[in-house]
Amino acid sequence: MRYLQTLVAFSEHHHDNDGDDSIDAGPTGGHMWDGRAGSAHEQAGLPLLSPAEMGNASVQEVAAKLERATYADELRKAFGDDVFRDPQAAFKAAGLALEVFQQSPKDFYPFTSKYDAVLRGEAKLGIAEARGLRLFNDGNKGNCASCHISERTQDGAFPLFTDFGLIALGVPRNRALKANADPAYFDLGLCGPIRTDLKDHPEYCGLFRTPTLRNVAVWQSFFHNGVFHTLEEAIRFYAQRDTAPQRWYGRAANGIVQKYDDLPARYHGNVNVEAPFGQKRGGRPSLTEAEIRDVAAFLRTLTDADQQQLLSLPGFAHSVSI
Ligand code: HEC
Repeated sequence: MRYLQTLVAFSEHHHDNDGDDSIDAGPTGGHMWDGRAGSAHEQAGLPLLSPAEMGNASVQEVAAKLERATYADELRKAFGDDVFRDPQAAFKAAGLALEVFQQSPKDFYPFTSKYDAVLRGEAKLGIAEARGLRLFNDGNKGNCASCHISERTQDGAFPLFTDFGLIALGVPRNRALKANADPAYFDLGLCGPIRTDLKDHPEYCGLFRTPTLRNVAVWQSFFHNGVFHTLEEAIRFYAQRDTAPQRWYGRAANGIVQKYDDLPARYHGNVNVEAPFGQKRGGRPSLTEAEIRDVAAFLRTLTDADQQQLLSLPGFAHSVSI
């Protein structure tokens, strides 16, 4: 996954050393949507063993495959001739190799989007894109940049479009997910059930890590549960979650709209209600349809040069964001 090079380790009380370090920004950092992996090499192991992803049954199975791989000799060279004697050691070696690979700028943080060219003074945003950026930054409109940071850091590093904070947005339930066939099952992010160390913290239920929006236009599913499939729909959710909840959430048998239907009622107080949220039902959305298109146009300027070709392929490969 791209642009994780400055991702901090998970902590419940994050103090930003770039801004005002007396402010507790709350739960921040860690790999995966719930921040449960402490490092890139730990993260690398999770999809290898997850039944929903690469589906290896055990560390032993991965180690055996590594030993048969065409690059087995390279692993021996890097980690010692006996690296395959202990499956745990071989598995760890593969994780470390992946971690180092993920530090290669060309592959993992190339900064070759149009927006990067603009920051370098080598390009200009189009009219709709520039309007979109203003709406993205405007605290009374999108207010997106309050979490998806759009400006350079104090030391001049280009923005990653995330502050890595964990926040509850009340994203609708994705009824297409197998696990959700059980009405009693809820993926609550930071408080579990996949992550287990903070299960006694009801105030963390429903929180997920703010993802980078770099290359967001090439994804085909949005948010931790993949409930939306177009960028415009993801932005519209922000604009209309509170003004038109009937549009986003399921109904109970009595016809009443179940707002935040992917979160048991006792956790609804965890959901963020600041701009772009917080209007009354039936009130004016924070972004009009034309403004949603402008924000989408801006977000499309965050696509790296090598990812742009993906957009022109029919049925381009799906990539999951972790
Ligand atoms: C209060 C912090 C916050 C604000 C404000 C915010 N976001 Fe997000 N954004 C998040 C978090 C947290 C997630 C992941 C939530 C989840 O999946 O449950 C997210 C996810 C997304 C995604 C899905 C990306 C993916 O990888 O699937 C998009 C697109 C997005 N935000 C765009 C925006 C736009 C556009 C705005 C402004 C209209 C905005 N965000 C405002 C925190 C924020």
